[in-house]
Formats: sequence, structure tokens, C-alpha cells
Amino acid sequence: MANNAPVGVFDSGLGGLTVARALMRRLPAESLVYVGDTARVPYGPKSATTVQRYALQIGEWLVDQGVKAVVVACNTATAHALTALREALPVPVIGVIEPGARAASRATVRGPVGVIATAGTIASGAYTAALTAIASTIEVVPVACPLFVPLVEEGLIDHPATRLIAQEYLAPLRAAGVDTVVLGCTHYPLLRPILSAALGPGVTLIDSAEETAAELAAILGDADTLADAGVAPRHRVVASDAPQHFLRLGSRFLDRPLEYVEHHVFT
Ligand code: DGL
Repeated sequence: MANNAPVGVFDSGLGGLTVARALMRRLPAESLVYVGDTARVPYGPKSATTVQRYALQIGEWLVDQGVKAVVVACNTATAHALTALREALPVPVIGVIEPGARAASRATVRGPVGVIATAGTIASGAYTAALTAIASTIEVVPVACPLFVPLVEEGLIDHPATRLIAQEYLAPLRAAGVDTVVLGCTHYPLLRPILSAALGPGVTLIDSAEETAAELAAILGDADTLADAGVAPRHRVVASDAPQHFLRLGSRFLDRPLEYVEHHVFT
């Protein structure tokens, strides 16, 4: 595999650009092919079988584009499809759940650890399994927050409605006295100030993006497939629907302007 081959990154939509942003910061020489499955977003409320089928279609397409590794930026797709992707694809596949769990286990002092995510991720139990695999006695408080994704997509990031819903969703975490909360969904890092205010002082929020980028760096380093330093990366961004809409909103997630979004329908 050529070292300057791109890294594939995919998500159900725009949210995974928060992970792409962390990858670009940590590994500035790597080229990315980012797929946002905007035709089929959201994955959060869908069944494991459906999400697995979507993930395999995108993973196989990314391999056809010549990627040297695949990062599953979507928590729901990681929860439902990481094992199937690792079995099916001939390149390393990295999810966001194990890195997030690792970062949370390092951050927690007395516990418990809260996990907030989509309904699908919470129902899968993947975060609880990953956390207890690291520390068997860790107490985990998982809470599904299904309204956060549509609120972020509507741009209601600093809005009284979002604040009210955050108070409601996070009440069980406050009651449990968590010291750490995993932001187990691509969209939640954008709500960090509101979540932090609703949880109160002294609670560490974990965004798995940085840790995922560190894991990708380690895997590419071990395999001696890091891109050559000094080569300018070439990024591609692909959406399965409404590329113009993606172009408009994407820069908010990526924190830099997007120039062009390709359109591809996955079947
Ligand atoms: N990307 C999804 C995740 O991280 C959130 C959006 C969706 O439900 O598709 O779980």
C-alpha cells in the first residue's frame, strides 16, 4: 500500500467532520476521503442490521478508492458494524468507541462515568462493554439523547430549547454524581458549552476524536504507512445526497472552509 494513499473516514452525515478535523490536526500530511451518508442519515434510530449494511457498502467503496485505512467516525456505525467491517475489509479499521472509552478511563478519578449517545449506540451496550473491558469495576451510566442530533443539524447550538433538553437528558447523570462524561456521538462536541453548564462544575467531557487520531497515527506508524512529511495532502469530501447543503454546513463542523463536495449514491 502506497504511503501517500488516503485514509477513508465515514459518518452518517456531517458530524464525523469533527473527527476529520482532529485527524487533519494530528496527521497533517495524510490525505482523507470523507464520506457523509446524508441520503440515509440519521443512523441513530435505525436497526443494527441496516446500519451494518450501510457501513459495509461505504467501507467497500472506500477500499475501491484505494484507502490504506478506514476510520469509522460515526459512533452508531462503530457500535453496530466495527466487527463486520474488520472482517470484510483488507485494511485496518478504527472505530471511535474504544478510543473514547480509553480516554474516559484515564480521566475518571472516582466515577461513575456517564455516556451520552444516540438510541442505537446506547442500546448496543458498546460503550459499557468497552469501558468495563478496560476497568471491570467501573460504574457506567448510559443515557440516550436522541434530540441532540436534530437540534445541532438545525443550528440550535446555543439556544434555550437545547439548554432545556440538556437539563432534562442529563438529570440522571447529575443525580448519579458522574465525574466524567463521554460525548458518544459525532454531534455532541458542538454542544460542549451547553452540556458542561447542564452537568455542573467538576465534570470532564470526553471527545473521542483526539484519541482516535492518536490511534490512527500509531497504527500507520507501526505499519510504516505514514504519509511522507512535506507532501501536501489532497482531501476529498463525498456526500450521498444534497452536496450543496453539505458544503454550506460542513465548514462549521470542520472548522475550515470546504471547497467542493462530490456526490455518490451508495447501493
Ligand atoms: N453520527 C451519528 C453518531 O455518532 C449521529 C448521527 C446519526 O444518528 O446518524 O452516532
